[in-house]
Amino acid sequence: MTLTVNGRAQQAEPRPGQCLRTLLRELGWFGVKKGCDAGDCGACTVHLDGKPVHSCLVPAFRAEGSTITTIEGLADTVPGEGLHPMQQAFLDAQGFQCGFCTAGMVMTASTLDPAQKAELPRALKGNLCRCTGYSAIADAIAGRCSLDADADGAASGRSLPAPAGPDIVTGQARYTMDAAPVGDLAGLLHLKILRSPHPHARIRAIDSTRALAVPGVVAVLTHKDAPDALFSTARHHHHSDDVDDTRVLDEVVRFVGDRVAVVVAQSEAAAEAGCAAIAVDYQLLPAVFDPEAAMAPGAPVIHDKPATSRIADISRNIVAELHGHIGDVDQGFDAADLILERSYTSQRVQHAHLETHGAIGWRDTDGRLVIRSSTQTPFLTRDALCRLYGLPRDRVRVFAERVGGGFGGKQEMITEDIVALAVMKTGRPVKLEFTRTEQFAASTSRHPMTVRVKLGAKADGTLTAIEMEILSNTGAYGNHGGGVLFHGANECIALYRCANKKVDGHAVYTNTLPSGAFRGYGLSQTNFAVESAMDELARALDIDPFALRRRNVVVPDDPLISYDPHPHDVEYGSYGLDQCLDLVENAFADAVPGDPGPDWMVGRGMAAAMIDTIPPRGHTAESRLRLLADGTYQLSVGTAEFGNGTSTVHRQVAATALGTRAANIALSQSDTEHVRHDTGAYGSTGTVVAGQATQRAAQALAEMIRAAAASRLGVAPEACRLDGDAVVAGEQRLALSALAPEGLEAVGHASGSPRSIAFNVQGFEVAVHRRSGEIRILRSVHAADAGTVINPMQCRGQVQGGVAQAIGAALYERMIVDDTGAIANPSFRGYHIPSFADLPQTQVLFADTYDRVGPLGAKSMSESPYNPVAAALANAICEATGVRLTQTPFTADRLYRLLPDQK
Ligand code: FES
Repeated sequence: MTLTVNGRAQQAEPRPGQCLRTLLRELGWFGVKKGCDAGDCGACTVHLDGKPVHSCLVPAFRAEGSTITTIEGLADTVPGEGLHPMQQAFLDAQGFQCGFCTAGMVMTASTLDPAQKAELPRALKGNLCRCTGYSAIADAIAGRCSLDADADGAASGRSLPAPAGPDIVTGQARYTMDAAPVGDLAGLLHLKILRSPHPHARIRAIDSTRALAVPGVVAVLTHKDAPDALFSTARHHHHSDDVDDTRVLDEVVRFVGDRVAVVVAQSEAAAEAGCAAIAVDYQLLPAVFDPEAAMAPGAPVIHDKPATSRIADISRNIVAELHGHIGDVDQGFDAADLILERSYTSQRVQHAHLETHGAIGWRDTDGRLVIRSSTQTPFLTRDALCRLYGLPRDRVRVFAERVGGGFGGKQEMITEDIVALAVMKTGRPVKLEFTRTEQFAASTSRHPMTVRVKLGAKADGTLTAIEMEILSNTGAYGNHGGGVLFHGANECIALYRCANKKVDGHAVYTNTLPSGAFRGYGLSQTNFAVESAMDELARALDIDPFALRRRNVVVPDDPLISYDPHPHDVEYGSYGLDQCLDLVENAFADAVPGDPGPDWMVGRGMAAAMIDTIPPRGHTAESRLRLLADGTYQLSVGTAEFGNGTSTVHRQVAATALGTRAANIALSQSDTEHVRHDTGAYGSTGTVVAGQATQRAAQALAEMIRAAAASRLGVAPEACRLDGDAVVAGEQRLALSALAPEGLEAVGHASGSPRSIAFNVQGFEVAVHRRSGEIRILRSVHAADAGTVINPMQCRGQVQGGVAQAIGAALYERMIVDDTGAIANPSFRGYHIPSFADLPQTQVLFADTYDRVGPLGAKSMSESPYNPVAAALANAICEATGVRLTQTPFTADRLYRLLPDQK
């Protein structure tokens, strides 16, 4: 058939059942993204004969004779040169973070008339964004611009644009799957995974005969093809911090969705048909879905592994446990005037980054294994592949293109290991891209947790004892189970000055989807518990919740201790919690309460949170910076860009030290070829650790340049000042390009220690409908102690996005595990992440501090805004209704049953 795409007549022969999205991508239009293939997210939006459509829902054959515009051709639809006005508006407002939704969002927004622009909640209901919280998108569509100018020597503290912005709004930014099957990828094969229908079973036999007979199938791989080695899918600086309980392919399956076998074929359809043709003989094993039942005597043992796997208690399915205390909690409770004890439960939620997991692997011309992956940890993934397959480091390269969202979900090796095996077995390039269903049913989630909190306090609110007991469901594999448990137990109570603290915790295997790293790394669940309990304590003692926090929070010189009395490398690099409390309290004091009418009950609530700015036990980074022949710079860093803004911040950090504009710094990142090591972009370390390495490299290079210029100009190095594209000494001016032949290059390192602390305070005003239980957020205010903010607009976006994601988790997101252990709602439609209509515009206020640990005074701020949200909402709902919700999500039907009018 013939169709016209972006003004070009193209021939295509769609396969039976093929959708327009895949056809357009096969024609090379990679700006058309896959988010769901179900019409829910809008990442694939194109114009079909001038109308925006979700191309995943349009049968390809229907496009015959049609005119199609994708993001790549949008600019050509308006007169004149340059961008379409909506592309320009998204650039001006930086209406994106990872950018994976942006093409679809721009395509829809470009068709809106003024009336539709005034009704964005309705107009954008078909386009989802997981990163921004939609505030920057609203700014773009309204034509607001808050960019600062890029000026020599003044890069830090300015709202400069992301360097990838022009590529993102034009569909030229390349993500993992945006690669044509040419060159190294010629002959690309497709990998599909046959997944277990049983929660726990032993594979007695696999018959691949019929699968291998499917036309196009090249190979079927089973546990007999996999290395007999155990590893953890979690990625951490020290791999021995995580339990080794996973095989690439195992003969035991432990959750519905676990890998059984893989088929590698010439097309996705053939690989899927191959999977369907495999015959598996299972011996069903007893399964357990509840963590408490899994620890009980007689429960089925999920991992019968050797002691070297580091599982805490194999017979009780305990992957990790924690028992620690300071002081004496019994004495503390004896000294209390009031003791309050409650349990709080947090559900399983999904990261729901719009780009699913995926990897492409091949052999390069030297025979090296190359993996192009959507990962937050290319270096740790390379090291894990080397250990798993016995390869030296220089025989494996892992790199990430732009990553379409991560939120911790891509701190996990769940595609690269199997792609590597398939490349080594077939000798051909191989691609694996998760479907949205696999993303929900077979990747990872946040850890469901039950947290019991017991607080003792004097009548004036002074805490005398804090006790906490955590039960965390790590699912079928241990991956981040221990790390999340230890971290979750820490900062939520280290926030409070109290001599007596005690924590007991267990992370427990069940035959359910594995849990993993997720924004907040355990703190969102424990913070919900502790900050809800603090609110209850404030009510019981009739003390204002802000006053109760001020009476008890740590202040500089207080020890930063939770359950572990041993010294840590955490220090007060700066302190802005007092400002954060004031900022939120004042914002509400200055605002007239909302009045949605007599059917609504209105209340306000707040919660506080603290986070260590760097993960413990090591997080290192290296940056390289080189002066180029034209007097600009090449910066290479290991950390990945997945919407966290590191590509902008690193250039600002380097430009500040080099007295130039950020635009003069070219950046390459997230490639094991470019620098020696970077632990990874998780724990908000892209700015505070990798940024520190960049700052050191830039300072060292500036010194080199001054020294080289001084010898040319015959002055002392101290007399030389870097000024844009030149070095200035008095009246003399030497162009940087003149120094380039000297090959000036500097390397910077950061060790990730010492660590500082950052703070967040969230306030909400909510209205609850008296009869339906519907919850509306009338006002959302977030104060953040991010140190000296390097890019205010970008940091504000991180906060708004974190709050938005946490609102979804607090109010309605929930992965439903049915009675077979399967995820019952593995789609955006069944799961529901916040759309434009669901979210308030969060007002973001920054404390004014300078951190002596972080680069240019900055602190981490990507994951921590998430943490206080659930408690602040629960506290506001309680203020409005008198109902204390102790279980997330706070759905309307759950609240409805508890409302006073319904009792
Ligand atoms: Fe919208 Fe990432 S920027 S999904």
